[in-house]
Amino acid sequence: MSGTLKPWALVTGAGGFIGHHLVSYLKAAGYRVRGVDIKQPEYGGTDADEFMLLDLRERKHCEMCTDGMSLVYHLAADMGGIGYITASHAGIAHNNSLINLFMLEAARASNVERFLFSSSACVYPHGLQTSPDVAPLREDDAFPAQPEEGYGLEKLYAEKLCQYYTEDYGLPTRIVRFHNVYGPLGTYDGGREKAPAAMCRKIARAPDPGQIEVWGDGKQTRSFMYVDDCVEGIHRIMQSEYGMPLNLGTDELVTVDELAKLVIDISGKDVALVHDLTKPQGVRGRNSDNTRLRKVLQWEPRITLREGLVPTYNWIAEQIELEAAAQRMPGAAVAAE
Ligand code: NAD
Ligand code: GDD
Repeated sequence: MSGTLKPWALVTGAGGFIGHHLVSYLKAAGYRVRGVDIKQPEYGGTDADEFMLLDLRERKHCEMCTDGMSLVYHLAADMGGIGYITASHAGIAHNNSLINLFMLEAARASNVERFLFSSSACVYPHGLQTSPDVAPLREDDAFPAQPEEGYGLEKLYAEKLCQYYTEDYGLPTRIVRFHNVYGPLGTYDGGREKAPAAMCRKIARAPDPGQIEVWGDGKQTRSFMYVDDCVEGIHRIMQSEYGMPLNLGTDELVTVDELAKLVIDISGKDVALVHDLTKPQGVRGRNSDNTRLRKVLQWEPRITLREGLVPTYNWIAEQIELEAAAQRMPGAAVAAE
């Protein structure tokens, strides 16, 4: 590459789903990238120039990874789909409070140029999300507050911390509220998976003809954002001059049954849906109002759900094939014991 070198960017949570993609995006854009996570990337290697294995609940680890960095994309968090975040309020709130407090303070002490915080649609009040036919959520709807217990409340508090650090210390911050992100390299099994990955896994594993379990009555609604749009949006928001919270999501509202049926269609299988009303369901409806995002960026996510689900399903089906092949290897059962 010719010309001046682009600055160093730190991506926390670089071993996770969005962080993994963001590292690749920033490298392709010419940045020098340091990744940090408590674990190695789950699926394949990282494109980062440096990768640090650190627990960001420790203040000194946050200081180590922010040292010398210009841009901080702070994605590390204890997180998962609705089943995970409703099962562990104390642990999630504790872990994420420590990570966010120490990362912001380390970024201030290291004089970083910009700090981007990955917040969530879970900050929005329950009372505004009681119908499948939900009014899209605007940034100003977050207050008066009634967020998701544990995970959502902590995100809202960390958003305010970012604002205070900007006001009191002059640290430029960017606050991005992601709406349900999906794509290849995302967790699809083990309890942290979100609905799109869970549907892909269940349908890929289902016999043909067969059936899968859908949590709730399937009429609850969401909008889903493909990860390529997500990382492009993150980059654009970091470059913008806008410091207040911004939604980053699509406004393509679908029911959970429609999501499942799209995946079934992509799979080419004959799969029926069986509903389980005892499973976690979260809010009844959630959609992103992108008015402010469009105004700030003159851009918004544009990959349709069907377009994004094709590579997502293909990747998850391939992982499941690889798992099955590994199980069939001679000695696999002995090795697994
Ligand atoms: P992810 O779980 O795949 O990635 C998060 C990463 O943070 C993981 O690799 C995890 O190991 C790491 N981490 C957790 N605790 C850590 C610690 N103590 N020290 C160092 N690293 C630690 O999740 P993701 O989907 O990539 O989400 C990235 C960010 O976006 C998170 O802050 C999440 O809350 C936010 N978000 C994601 C979504 C979504 O739909 N994926 C929606 C809203 C908000
Ligand atoms: N996870 C999961 N697994 N959800 C399922 C399943 C399944 O097998 N079947 C149906 N669902 C339904 C859930 O009951 C819920 O109503 C809907 O699909 C969406 O579930 P998730 O994708 O797990 O979570 P969410 O949209 O309620 O919240 C997620 O998105 C937020 C941002 O928009 C979570 O990942 C939050 O952590 C995140 O902040």
